[in-house]
Amino acid sequence: MSVDSVLAAPAGLARLTGPLTGPLTPVHAADHTPGWWRSAVIYQVYPRSFRDLNGDGIGDLAGITAELPKLAELDIDAVWLSPFYRSPQRDAGYDVSDYCDVDPLFGTLADFDAMITEATRLGLRMIVDLVPNHCSDQHQAFQAALAAPAGSPARDMFIFRDGRGAFGEEPPNNWQSHFGGSAWTRITEPDGTPGQWYLHLFDTSQPDFNWDNDAVHREFERVLRFWLDRGVSGFRVDVAHALVKAAGLPEWGGRADGASSDGYPGHEAPMFGQPALHDIYRKWRRILAEYGPDRILCAEANVDPLPRLADWVRPDEMHQAFNFPFLHAGLDVGRMRHVINESLTSLDSVGAPSTWVLSNHDVVRHATRFGYDGHAPRDGDGIGPFDPQPNEALGRSRAAAATMFMLGLPGGAYLYQGEELGLPDGIDIPDNQRQDPTFGRTGGQRLGRDGCRVPLPWRSGELHAGFGTGANPWLPQPASFSALARDTQAASPSSHLSLYRRMLALRRELRLGAGSLSWLEDWCTDTCLAYLNGTTLVLMNVGHEPVELPAGTVLLRSSAASAQASEAESEWAELAEDRHRLGSGETVWLEIYLGDTER
Ligand code: NOJ
Repeated sequence: MSVDSVLAAPAGLARLTGPLTGPLTPVHAADHTPGWWRSAVIYQVYPRSFRDLNGDGIGDLAGITAELPKLAELDIDAVWLSPFYRSPQRDAGYDVSDYCDVDPLFGTLADFDAMITEATRLGLRMIVDLVPNHCSDQHQAFQAALAAPAGSPARDMFIFRDGRGAFGEEPPNNWQSHFGGSAWTRITEPDGTPGQWYLHLFDTSQPDFNWDNDAVHREFERVLRFWLDRGVSGFRVDVAHALVKAAGLPEWGGRADGASSDGYPGHEAPMFGQPALHDIYRKWRRILAEYGPDRILCAEANVDPLPRLADWVRPDEMHQAFNFPFLHAGLDVGRMRHVINESLTSLDSVGAPSTWVLSNHDVVRHATRFGYDGHAPRDGDGIGPFDPQPNEALGRSRAAAATMFMLGLPGGAYLYQGEELGLPDGIDIPDNQRQDPTFGRTGGQRLGRDGCRVPLPWRSGELHAGFGTGANPWLPQPASFSALARDTQAASPSSHLSLYRRMLALRRELRLGAGSLSWLEDWCTDTCLAYLNGTTLVLMNVGHEPVELPAGTVLLRSSAASAQASEAESEWAELAEDRHRLGSGETVWLEIYLGDTER
């Protein structure tokens, strides 16, 4: 098999010949369609927890601007900023009261412009979060709706309904909030009588907009242009699958998040994935196109089953969609392979790139999830001091392996701030300091997402590990954060941060993001996965036993900390005699040797 045919990964079963032999199952061909996002690494900044320059204990835009050069050193393509808009912060900024202004907590519009200028100087693009499903109850439009009578145009911006029961005392239907409890709240009418109910798929303070109303469409088109005019490279669209609800708001006994459950397949959920959504995104794509070919939309769409995700990224809709099934596959190699196959195949069918992600501000960090044998307790709902505790060192080394496996895959990748430091979740957060509305709405049953949102450590040994020099961080930092601070890791060639830097640089050099994928069957087992991307062989071992490395390969990178110090010395280290085995919880990138005649 020639280099070219390996790179192109033709359809059908192929065989590698040469020093490394064996059957290949091609899944995805290399794709050099233009579009920076197709292979981009996008780094999520969660502004509250990134860097606090004004000393109030909460991160700010000036802090982001100050540290952008450190992100540029990571060799990423773009930054995605979680919300920094005016907001009462009942859901950490996902409750927006003014879509076209910066919350004073984070700074000013001038600070935003300065941040964009600095990003541009560094060659980084900036994507911002757009929250179109709901706003804050303090938004002027919702306040106007409360003050107006039932049936008025002001009420029609939201989803108001009369209640059921003799006195309208029952919610209009049985829908549940993602954060627990009913998705409806009853208001008191301006004359003081108990009145209508409004829908909120999330917190009570987050009323859902009525996307059957053209005025809502016009308002968000204005918001898009406002930020495009200020130079953003695109939008990550919050709960992009939820904007339109089925006519008549029919009952739904399935899961609040729309994932399939017994008798309730996710694709039937009346609040998700409605056909009319797609016209909204087609219109938005046309608006972005007015600004040139480089502005993008990325869907945060929880879609079940996975192949339906392709509907969000058809050529005239969004550019990307998050791949949550990959995140939820854990280190289960069977599930990982299945998700990778389904993602690449279904997205290829519409010409869209896949994306890959392991952590974000809504889930337990992967360095903590992987610190358990088997499942982390209450995965997705936070981990507390009374739960079984993770093995931090194990979690960090497995996280390195999982990330290295992910960054070899073709497509785009999303990183979450702090994962490059191998940060664990904050677990010892006292109940009275927990801020996620999930905690309050479930009476503490679900701890919520605070653990993955703890402010970052920048400098070992300094106050608040260098996050800020003033007030205590808005969530307490674990004791381990100081030793994991960026300055200490930057100085160590064997640190997690150094591994990220080298992986990201090599990923770009080898153009893995635009590459191909074929499974190398002889090396795929119950506990190992092996794929070829071009001439790079990615091999991950999640089993307990070490595995012999294939002959005819040269080691490019290993996720194991012990291997890194020596790799730092040379770009293309020959596989050392004593490193012929792939350890438990380790990933390697190998260059396959194809033989002189085939080069
Ligand atoms: C998804 C966001 O990622 C999450 O943080 C937020 O709470 C919900 N959408 C509601 O906006």
